[in-house]
Amino acid sequence: MTPSYLRNIPLLLVLWVVSVQCSSSNISTAITTRFWDCCKPSCSWKEKAKVTGPVLTCDKQDNPFRDFAAGTGCGTGGTAYSCSDQQPWAVNDTFSYGFAGIYIEGHVEDFWCCACYQLNFTSGPVKGKSMIVQASNTAYDVKTTNRFSLAIPGGNTTSHDGCANQFGVSQTVFGETNQGVSSVDDCENLPEAMRPGCRWRFDWFKDADYPT
Ligand SMILES: *[C@@H]1O[C@H](CO)[C@@H](O)[C@H](O)[C@H]1NC(C)=O
Ligand SMILES: *[C@@H]1O[C@H](CO)[C@@H](O)[C@H](O)[C@H]1NC(C)=O
Ligand SMILES: *[C@@H]1O[C@H](CO)[C@@H](O)[C@H](O)[C@H]1NC(C)=O
Ligand SMILES: *[C@@H]1O[C@H](CO)[C@@H](O)[C@H](O)[C@H]1NC(C)=O
Repeated sequence: MTPSYLRNIPLLLVLWVVSVQCSSSNISTAITTRFWDCCKPSCSWKEKAKVTGPVLTCDKQDNPFRDFAAGTGCGTGGTAYSCSDQQPWAVNDTFSYGFAGIYIEGHVEDFWCCACYQLNFTSGPVKGKSMIVQASNTAYDVKTTNRFSLAIPGGNTTSHDGCANQFGVSQTVFGETNQGVSSVDDCENLPEAMRPGCRWRFDWFKDADYPT
């Protein structure tokens, strides 16, 4: 029997409360880093999470394809790379959308792959701004804290050869390891489709390093 306190609440309201409880959770603190390695994103492998559509990968011409078994073009000679449309964009001065490689303590990839998170920046020049990111990748290399590594072309070259293999350019066009390109002018050397996201870093994101 329905408890008396629920009897008069419209069913739709009850369902709304249930769905909000299921889909909403807080991660109180996290650091952010940047990356753009041109490699196949980890959430592009079919078995990483219970989703019907893993993250798309692209070929050397930046055309998306759906062979989720294709190997990564980084190091191993595979044919799958990241797609340029998984770069950040600003909606207005305080709100942007983007993609990220994520690590959340106590969890593995099936928890975050393809999920969306709102990041409210709490330090650095972006303090007070926020951003909604979809998890396209995984950031298992630092496991001491929750981390959102923002996918920003030219933001931090963490592979040795991914971008060179994909675009037939020197890897240094995408910047130095751990730093990426050093000025907004350097964004003009990237393949054209990736320049807006590269400029976003110096414009909306104010070239922030590790904002929480
Ligand atoms: C998450 O934290 C914010 C700020 O502290 C709070 O307003 C909100 O109710 C919390 N949401 C959940 C689902 O816990
Ligand atoms: C670049 O990526 C590496 C590997 O994830 C990370 O350790 C480093 O902090 C990143 N640098 C920036 C500026 O985000
Ligand atoms: C920025 O865009 C977001 C999302 O559309 C909106 O919620 C917010 O009110 C906008 N902020 C300003 C200052 O226009
Ligand atoms: C992040 O900001 C949004 C919009 O301002 C707010 O609704 C939400 O509660 C904030 N989340 C946390 C954890 O503070």
